[in-house]
Formats: sequence, structure tokens, C-alpha cells
Amino acid sequence: MKWSLPGNSWNPPQLQTARLTIRPLVPNDAEAIFAFCSDSRMTEYTLWETHQSIADTMQFLREYAPSRYREQIPEPLGIVLRNDHSDSVIGTLGGFWISKSNGTMELGYAIAANFWGLGFATEASQALIDYLFTDYPIERLQARSMTPNRASYRVLEKLGFRYEGTMRSLIYRRGRYWDVGIFGMLRADWESSRRTRT
Ligand SMILES: CC(C)(COP(=O)(O)OP(=O)(O)OC[C@H]1O[C@@H](n2cnc3c(N)ncnc32)[C@H](O)[C@@H]1OP(=O)(O)O)[C@@H](O)C(=O)NCCC(=O)NCCS
Repeated sequence: MKWSLPGNSWNPPQLQTARLTIRPLVPNDAEAIFAFCSDSRMTEYTLWETHQSIADTMQFLREYAPSRYREQIPEPLGIVLRNDHSDSVIGTLGGFWISKSNGTMELGYAIAANFWGLGFATEASQALIDYLFTDYPIERLQARSMTPNRASYRVLEKLGFRYEGTMRSLIYRRGRYWDVGIFGMLRADWESSRRTRT
């Protein structure tokens, strides 16, 4: 890769899509985020646990998010509806390093259950993918989904990720092992999908 990581002046991105704004999270987002992170439908296939109280959400916003931003990692970011003047977060997403030396990041996303099936995960992720390949020296963006998480499989398919295989019993969670599907998008894949989109 010819270019380096973002410099000291880095701020988490603010991105716009047709219907959504993606922006950094702030402590004021606690109530909105607690509302969907405390929903067990949301965490059925996530590696993070259901928030039990607003204190869990505050820790996420006051400690986890700022520590990631200090490391210039664009995760977690908030997703809000552009036409919602209350600026209420309806989901989160982000890209984080799997291996800096190998130029690999991973994509993750979550949308409040009330808003499932409206294309928001796909729309927000597309904007983030464009940002990641444009601003970071990555060769590979990957995503992982527990095999029963078919909605997530479908999002990755719509985004143009390639299914690369399933790692059996990769994760032990809630008393059992889970198979995990691995998906990848290489820089060349992204460049060719961008040409088709324009
Ligand atoms: C996965 C998730 C982010 C999808 O969000 P979303 O905004 O509903 O996604 P989109 O609307 O962009 O696309 C969802 C697609 O999955 C499809 N889908 C939903 N449930 C499905 C199922 N059980 N089987 C097959 N397809 C399914 C939808 O029909 C849609 O496809 P379509 O556009 O071809 O109709 C959301 O379900 C979620 O937040 N889940 C909890 C958190 C999570 O699991 N995150 C991923 C961890 S890897």
C-alpha cells in the first residue's frame, strides 16, 4: 500500500446516504442506544451481550467509543434517519482492524428491530465500505456471521461480499458452539463494484 493511516487530525467520519446520516456516537445517544441494545432480538447472533441497564450503554459511549476514536478506528458509529430532527440513533456500524500489517479490516452492523427489512443496514454499510477503502490502506474487508443469521448473510450478499466458507464451531456462546460464515471483499472487488454503481 502506498499511503499511510489517517494522520493526527483524524476525526470519526460523518457520512450521508440518501436516507441516512452516519456519525460518531456521543453520550447523549444513551437512551436511544439502550432501547435497541437491551432488546434480546438484537443480540441473538452478536458477540456482545444484551445491555442490562443504561449503565452498560453509558460505559459503551463514555469508554469504549472514545477509546476506539482515539485509535482512529471508525467503530462504533451511529446511524440516524436524515429526516428525523431528533437525531435519534437507530443502529450502529463500524470497521475495525483485524490485521494492520496485512491490511485487513472487519465490518459490523446492527439496526434496531423496529427498522429491520428497510434496507438500512445495506445502505449504511455501502457508505462505510466506500469510506474504508478510500481512507484506509486496506486490501481486504471481511465480515463474519453466525450461520443462522440469514438477514446478515443477505446484507453481505447485497453488498457484494463473497462467501468464502464456514468455520465450524468457531464461537462458544450461550452454552453452545456456533458455525460462522466468513465473507470477504477485496480492494479489486470494491473497485469493480464501484464502477458498476456509477
Ligand atoms: C442483520 C441486520 C443488521 C439487517 O438489518 P436490515 O436493516 O434489516 O438489513 P437490510 O434491510 O439492509 O437487508 C436485510 C435482508 O435480509 C433479508 N432477511 C431478513 N430476515 C431473513 C431471513 N430470516 N432469511 C433470509 N433473509 C432474510 C431481508 O428480506 C433483506 O433482504 P432483501 O432486501 O433481499 O429483501 C439486522 O437484522 C440486525 O441488526 N440484526 C441484529 C444484529 C446483528 O445480527 N448484526 C450482525 C452481526 S454479524
